[in-house]
Order: sequence, then structure tokens, then C-alpha cells
Amino acid sequence: MAAEIIDGKAIAKSVREELAVEVEQLKSDAGVTPGLAVVLVGEDPASKVYVRNKHRACERVGINTRDIRMSAEASHEEVMEQVHNLNEDPDIHGILVQLPTPEQVDDEEIINAIDPAKDVDGFHPISMGKLLTGQPEMVPCTPRGVMRMLESTGVELSGKEAVIVGRSNIVGKPQALLLMYEHCTPTICHSRTRDMTEHISRADILVAAAGMPQMITGDMIKPGAVVIDVGINRLDDGSLVGDVDFDSAKEVAGAITPVPGGVGPMTIAMLLDNTVRAAKNSACCC
Ligand code: GUN
Repeated sequence: MAAEIIDGKAIAKSVREELAVEVEQLKSDAGVTPGLAVVLVGEDPASKVYVRNKHRACERVGINTRDIRMSAEASHEEVMEQVHNLNEDPDIHGILVQLPTPEQVDDEEIINAIDPAKDVDGFHPISMGKLLTGQPEMVPCTPRGVMRMLESTGVELSGKEAVIVGRSNIVGKPQALLLMYEHCTPTICHSRTRDMTEHISRADILVAAAGMPQMITGDMIKPGAVVIDVGINRLDDGSLVGDVDFDSAKEVAGAITPVPGGVGPMTIAMLLDNTVRAAKNSACCC
């Protein structure tokens, strides 16, 4: 039987609708309009598209955005100064520096310089540490979006084998923690994993975040598994594909996310949610 298609666009729309109500309430009750600053250094075409989508999504729910563009030659110190200024700006509740930045900019130092209260990406070591110790505040957007999509399927997570392909700070590591908190047994596979296909074949929940186009095919997947494809890869013909070969996988999986229209819209929806959360926290503390 063909898999249920998990419609990330539709779930993201319902998240946005709920957020629009919360934003209105925050404005009327506390006089606070959530504000997100997005810093884009350079001219990377894919990053420009992602940044434009983030601004548009904010506008749709009533979040103010600030679009900060810096030249590809901007120095590390100039980007640091921008972050310091945004840290001090009371109208800005969330700061996102679009990654990757040009070579001369040290991403790690930039992330570490963001005020953790404004760390809507959830990449700061304090945000990560809080997640690791079971006191989550700002949780990275993609893994949070994945959890919302899993929830939408109604599949019981407790006790399930969850396999995550990819060990990044942005997806793989926080994803494993979030799945563990829902009582899954997570395994993280990576480029040095000895028998990746054996691990994948055991997965009741499979999260593909390796950045390798269509590396996971239907014959590798356990029948009935829930397959979440975090990959966004552009092929030479211009088409977008995930890390999963959708056509063969959908014949085996119980539920699967498409690319595009799966995880991507959910990542943005969770960014909006983190921004509203940061604005609410700031309203409580004033
Ligand atoms: N580049 C690709 N995805 C992301 C993301 O979620 N946040 C930031 N800051 N940069 C990215």
C-alpha cells in the first residue's frame, strides 16, 4: 500500500494560523510586536531564497522583520558588530545569521555571540546545553518541525527504533535528543558508520539528513516505517530532491514527507514559533 504523504505545507499553515492569533494577543495585551532580524552575508542564491521565504512567513503572521544584507567581503568583525547591535536592540527578539557565511567569517564565534534569549535558531551552546539536559528553551527549528510532523501522523513513538542519518549540530544531534525524550531508541548514522543499510532497515522512524541526493531507496526501508526527509538537494536539471528516493520509498513506507513541501515549510514555521516565544519571554521580563 502506498504511504500516507505528510503534508508539511498544510501543517505549517495551521501553525502559522495559531501564531497569528498569539501575535495579535501579544500586541494587544503587552504592546509587544515580535521582531526577527535576519542577517545575510554574501550573495549565495539558495540562501537568498531561504531568507526571502523567512521574511514572507513572518509578514504573514504579523512578526516584524529586519532584512540585513552584508557584502560577501564583510569582515568577521563587521558581522560580530552587527550581532552585538542586534543583541542590544529592544525591538528585536530573534536573531538569525543565515549559514553558511563566507570563508572569512567564523560561524562558531558568530553563533556564540548571539544573546541566548534571542537565539531563535537554537544553535547557541547554551540552547544546546539546555536541550541536552532536558530543560529545552530554544530548540533548533528543523528537528522541532520534524517532531511536529511525526505527531501529525498519530504514530506511537514510545519504544520505537529511530534512525537518523547525519550528525550535524543543526539536525542530527538535536533530533536524536528530541526522539529520545519521546522514548524512542535513537541511532545516529554518519559517513563512518560501518553498515548503514543494516541500521536503516531496522528503523521504525527514519530521519534522513545527510545532504546526499536520493541516497536512501525503497529497498532499504522497513515496511511501514515513517520516513522524514530533511534533505534539499538541487540536481543538474534544476529539480529539487531529498535524501530519500521518494518514488521507491513511498511504496514501502507507512508515511513519508515530500521534497519540496515537507520539512522545509515546517522549519520556517518553527522559526516563527521560536520568535514569538522569545518575544513573549521578553515581555514577561520587562
Ligand atoms: N542555513 C540552512 N539552514 C539554516 C538554518 O536553519 N538557520 C540558519 N541560520 N542558517 C541556515
